[in-house]
Amino acid sequence: MKIVMVGTGYVGLVSGLCFAEFGFETLCVDKNQARLNGISKGVCPFFEPGLDDLLVKHLNLTKRFSLSNNLQESLKEANVVFITVGTPTKRLENEADLKAVHEVAKEIAENIINYCVVVIKSTVPVGTTRKIKEIISQKVSEDKFDIVSNPEFLSEGSAIKDFMRPDRVVIGTENKKSESIMQEIYNPLYLQETSIVLTTIESAEVIKYASNSFLATKISFINEVADLCETIGGNVLDVAKAMGLDKRIGEKFLHAGPGFGGSCFPKDVKAFSATAKKHDVELSIINAVNASNEARPIKIASRIKNRFNNKLEGIVIGILGLSFKPNTDDIRNSTSIIIANELYKSGAIIKCFDPYAMNNAKKVLPDLNYCNSVDEVCKGSSALIIATEWNEFKVFDLNKIKKLMKDPVIFDLRNIYNNEAVKDFGIEYHGVGQ
Ligand code: UGA
Repeated sequence: MKIVMVGTGYVGLVSGLCFAEFGFETLCVDKNQARLNGISKGVCPFFEPGLDDLLVKHLNLTKRFSLSNNLQESLKEANVVFITVGTPTKRLENEADLKAVHEVAKEIAENIINYCVVVIKSTVPVGTTRKIKEIISQKVSEDKFDIVSNPEFLSEGSAIKDFMRPDRVVIGTENKKSESIMQEIYNPLYLQETSIVLTTIESAEVIKYASNSFLATKISFINEVADLCETIGGNVLDVAKAMGLDKRIGEKFLHAGPGFGGSCFPKDVKAFSATAKKHDVELSIINAVNASNEARPIKIASRIKNRFNNKLEGIVIGILGLSFKPNTDDIRNSTSIIIANELYKSGAIIKCFDPYAMNNAKKVLPDLNYCNSVDEVCKGSSALIIATEWNEFKVFDLNKIKKLMKDPVIFDLRNIYNNEAVKDFGIEYHGVGQ
């Protein structure tokens, strides 16, 4: 069984290496030669815990993983071809941009020789998989290929675990032949009794968007409850804990914070709603989630500005964490970046630090002061914002922080610290929803 992944982005590279770990010969194809050169030296183009080790192992030791810039050649022996190229939100609309997916489909159509299964793993709106079938059918007879929807559920920072030990695998097919080939490549997961949902193509496409949108809804819900707690004197930590103990609700994704970011939730809630609208269905809950989340980091920045009577000119503010969540260097839709930018635009001098995401942040916000340590950020700052919950931000020596800062004020946007305990150090503390 030979597997080809088209696209060496986050999903393509993680999935390709994990299939190699399962024991399959896997080939990752990309047109970007510079990217391939980097990967072929054993360096992943992004930070994901454990991925460099898998890359070196399968590139050099098992040699089950290889790279190519030539899709035509790569297709010759492929049994399963995964499309894992990006689907960003279109600049002026809320729809997913399917240009790259369609281009790959056309190229596959030009080059299929032997029967293979074409799997859409990129997150695509309902109906796209059928559209890709149409594109390929224009060039290739239907007995030469089958089309499958197999959405990914990889979370940045824990992607390898999510692939190797998933809560479920979703496989949407049109016939038994392709279904059994997909079952074969996920056989290692069958053996560990993972739930594999075999369904139709349309259901698989909806499952992906509905899952991400539901998780996003939980986050926005608790964020609004946090706002209420702040006004009426409740504590969202107690509220979320007690809610989560009800098994029907569940404790996960009820952490109030600065809003959800990343390359998935913000894009997917917009695309889900846009797809529904095209079919005259109004996803009013999802629309509200999108609006609530877009407003959230701006609102948080306003609260910080209010603390300084909206006079930020010359005030030094420290920001810890720039990635959209810990264990990644990804800053796409990072609420930390949005907040940093808002405060910078209001005249604040921003000092910041992130263990992995500084190089990416420098590209979008070059005028911030990038520091080498937490101490350097704290020195002379009039406020410290903990924006991303990296582990190393969880064990501060608060005495030292207080001494380093000009004015000891902490905005803990991830509720890492205990309100009372921080206040005992003589530090002004602002959590979320407390
Ligand atoms: C998300 C999903 O969790 C994955 O299952 C999915 O496969 C992936 O999108 C995708 O579609 O590719 P990811 O974007 O990596 O994964 O990150 P999450 O851990 O889901 O966090 C998303 C955002 O929500 C982050 O900004 C995080 O800080 C925020 N969040 C999460 C909260 O504010 N509160 C929470 O309780 C949980």
